[in-house]
Amino acid sequence: MKPKVFVTRVIPDEGLAPIRESCEMKLWEDELPPPREVLLREVKEIDGLLCLLTDKIDAALMDAGPRLRVISNYAVGFDNIDVPAATARKIPVGNTPGVLTDTTADFAFTLLMAAARRVVEGADYTRQGKWKTWGPKLLTGMDIHHATLGIIGFGRIGQGMARRAAGFDMRVLYYDVYRREDLEKSMGVKFADLDTLYREADFITIHTDLNETTRHMMNAGAFARMKSTAILINTARGPIVDPAALYEALTSGKIRAAALDVTEPEPIPPDAPLLKLPNCLIVPHIASASVATRAKMAEMAAANLLAGLRRERLPDCVNPDVYAATHQSTGDSGFRISG
Ligand code: DGY
Repeated sequence: MKPKVFVTRVIPDEGLAPIRESCEMKLWEDELPPPREVLLREVKEIDGLLCLLTDKIDAALMDAGPRLRVISNYAVGFDNIDVPAATARKIPVGNTPGVLTDTTADFAFTLLMAAARRVVEGADYTRQGKWKTWGPKLLTGMDIHHATLGIIGFGRIGQGMARRAAGFDMRVLYYDVYRREDLEKSMGVKFADLDTLYREADFITIHTDLNETTRHMMNAGAFARMKSTAILINTARGPIVDPAALYEALTSGKIRAAALDVTEPEPIPPDAPLLKLPNCLIVPHIASASVATRAKMAEMAAANLLAGLRRERLPDCVNPDVYAATHQSTGDSGFRISG
């Protein structure tokens, strides 16, 4: 008998094909995520779940699925899953690290450049027929070359930003709970505490995961310590930035601009105050959205799912404690890096 699995959205064929071949697969084909009651119903019968960052996978859901033996997340981030609950139930959880590093760093740098040089404002201005002549002060922005980039979270994607910044002769400061002295010389980056980073950076880009330490770490206190010309970029998780504090910072001139791929909540409501600001560029969580990367993510998510169904070690497992004879919970340092 083939194992039963539920896939909560249509992912690229590179992932669906191998699952279809060896499993009895139920696929949620809607554009929107399956409602909670659908997840609770489907999980009852399945051996494996392939889910997205939009699906909340908590202890109650796991308890509703007595046969569930693997959870495979189609994302590198996994804050949508109660991982300690999965570990306690000996359910391995898979994710898709590595493949989206460069794609996401490319996009974070794209946002940085777009916000600095007011690309979207310029396009809107042209489209609206406002372009009358060349103007000495028309849509002047901030230089990227030789500016200081502050990277918060120096994991794979943060390091990818540093590599890109080198090509623009930027000075790079980074903050992470794990200091990477091994990389400082070779990459030409300097460790800075948060205060220094806020004080000196022209661009601040966030690459941490979301946890109780990083939730709303970009708050009024943080904005007050930044340069009034600073530009904030967030491609990590929306709730790392307090949206009300960001609105206040952008409208009062505490910082100059922001470019967000992720928001709190997601999707951002169409009447959200931030959407009315010309100095706040917001796009719909698409940093990893290249055709090739989304296909590779699908392959990896399928590989994790199928390995778990075969009771083999997942190629990319976020809770390897499940494989220990007597497992202990993974200690949470409170501030981890993502990518
Ligand atoms: C992730 O993988 O965590 C991104 O947010 C979406 O690709």
